[in-house]
Amino acid sequence: THCILIGAPVDEGQRRPGCLMGPMAYRVAGIAQTLAELGHTVEDRGDVAPLPGRGEIHSNPAIHHLPETIAWTEALAAAATTAMADGMPVFMGGDHSLSLGTVAGVAAHARAAGRPQFVIWLDAHSDFHTFETSTSGNLHGTPMAYAAGRPGFEPLTPFPAPVPEANICMFGIRSVDPAENAALMETDIIVNDMRVLDERGIVAPLREFLDRVHAENGLLHVSLDVDFLDPSIAPAVGTTVPGGATFREAHLVMELLHESGLVSSLDLVELNPFLDDRGRTAKLMVDLLGSLMGRKVFDRPTRSY
Ligand code: ARG
Ligand code: MN
Ligand code: MN
Ligand code: MN
Repeated sequence: THCILIGAPVDEGQRRPGCLMGPMAYRVAGIAQTLAELGHTVEDRGDVAPLPGRGEIHSNPAIHHLPETIAWTEALAAAATTAMADGMPVFMGGDHSLSLGTVAGVAAHARAAGRPQFVIWLDAHSDFHTFETSTSGNLHGTPMAYAAGRPGFEPLTPFPAPVPEANICMFGIRSVDPAENAALMETDIIVNDMRVLDERGIVAPLREFLDRVHAENGLLHVSLDVDFLDPSIAPAVGTTVPGGATFREAHLVMELLHESGLVSSLDLVELNPFLDDRGRTAKLMVDLLGSLMGRKVFDRPTRSY
């Protein structure tokens, strides 16, 4: 695979400064070397610079950094669409508001290519607020709703190619605000919250979804939020929630994604290196990418899709 590293030092979607250090932390943790050792070609396109912001204010007074977020969204969407034509983009965040742009860009590419877009959201949170329903005003809590084509994102450009609800699958969910919950109930989005993973494990629901992506010849975007992971193994995130994915559950997801051969783009989001403990979270995220891109502990025969 030709892996295209794209830094997205977005910090404005939440209130704990530090996510802007994410792209550098991934580079220091050896992201390029990890991919190269697995036999991939690697191209680091550096960090995206936001386009100039427009001076927008919002009727929801909680919303902050809207002009900056619009600027990032436009720049990242353009970078994503361009990169999709050249290889597999890996967006190194940056907080999760960057996915307003990356998912818009990859979905626009999918539409142009005549293929359905699918999204796997690995996160403690559903990030299903609109600009109107957010109570924190932190726009990292909104990208999934934007990608699903929910109204309520003015003055942002409407999502170019909304992802069909049934093509969205969430894993690890354990913190959902009331407005998000109400909205999700009205959709066909597959919400595999931690209760589902406790009861069924992670493999069965993941395979069900991957089988559909395969059957429909879809493109698959994976958005990995650090807080998907349990805080005991991944402390470097501003929004820790207890009861997250274990080390092995997370690697297992990545290994299954690799075996599927379906992943076409990836976000690594919410790493806040300022909160890290000797780089362990950055290293874990890079190791998870290694599993996603084919690293195995033992070369067993694998199920093919
Ligand atoms: N639901 C909360 C909010 O909207 C938390 C969002 C956390 N999102 C994230 N990408 N970590 O503020
Ligand atoms: Mn998130
Ligand atoms: Mn989260
Ligand atoms: Mn939320």
